[in-house]
Amino acid sequence: MKTVFIDCSPKKKLSASGFIMGVTASLVLGIKKKEKLKTAADHERVLDQISDADTVVFSMPLYVDGVPSHLLPFLKKMEMFCRENSKNLNVYVIANNGFIEGKQNEPLMQIMENFCKRSGIKWCGGLGIGGGVMMNVMRILLVVFLGIAILRTLLSGINEGTFFQAWPWVIYGKQILEVLVLGCGIIVFDIWLAVCINGKKEYGRHYTRIMLPSFVFIICADIFFTLISVFQGGIFRGWMSKKKPTR
Ligand SMILES: Cc1cc2nc3c(=O)[nH]c(=O)nc-3n(C[C@H](O)[C@H](O)[C@H](O)COP(=O)(O)O)c2cc1C
Repeated sequence: MKTVFIDCSPKKKLSASGFIMGVTASLVLGIKKKEKLKTAADHERVLDQISDADTVVFSMPLYVDGVPSHLLPFLKKMEMFCRENSKNLNVYVIANNGFIEGKQNEPLMQIMENFCKRSGIKWCGGLGIGGGVMMNVMRILLVVFLGIAILRTLLSGINEGTFFQAWPWVIYGKQILEVLVLGCGIIVFDIWLAVCINGKKEYGRHYTRIMLPSFVFIICADIFFTLISVFQGGIFRGWMSKKKPTR
């Protein structure tokens, strides 16, 4: 069994789609190929991988309540390819979005289901994840907490003469659990998705979200995007950043 995973986020780094795709791929058995699809230059390479695959898993962000536009030319080519070659493919989709409700991904799932019908390939369902950017926060937190645990071990080792201290790692274990609670919906639905991919079964459509109350999520998101704006282009970067003259 060969499964091709396609990360359709245009981001070079810290893409939530790439992250959840990697987690899913680690749970899937058989031959796995991970691909990044950003520009037309990627199309032939990805189609080549699909030519001998049984399953394709698209992982993508929700853009304007739909499929990212840079993916559409590829879907057109894939439709032709699948029809001409009578490909017997199983297709799964993982979508993540910025708003907190995973259900926002429903129109995207419908688009992908229609694409499968037109291409003569099997739509096996999809997972929609709300508050997708928090997956990045979760993985960054795990690394930061690990750094703090190492620092605590070193400092207490210097102070007390032994580096074999359990307490920094007990705290780290609790912190891991807290982070996992935030992502418990995603983890459960993703494991289920991987089980379906392995068994080539239909998954249906499922929506989950980061387990934060909406009002906390909104405050966190506001702080996060304000900081990103300040560091990447100044406050109100859309309005006040220097613009190239349009011709
Ligand atoms: C152009 C653009 C359009 C977006 N449209 C939506 C949207 O309609 N609804 C939503 O919830 N999030 C929207 N988002 C947010 C992304 O879906 C969200 O940031 C996602 O986590 C990005 O995933 P990635 O890191 O895999 O690229 C949009 C983001 C961009 C850049």
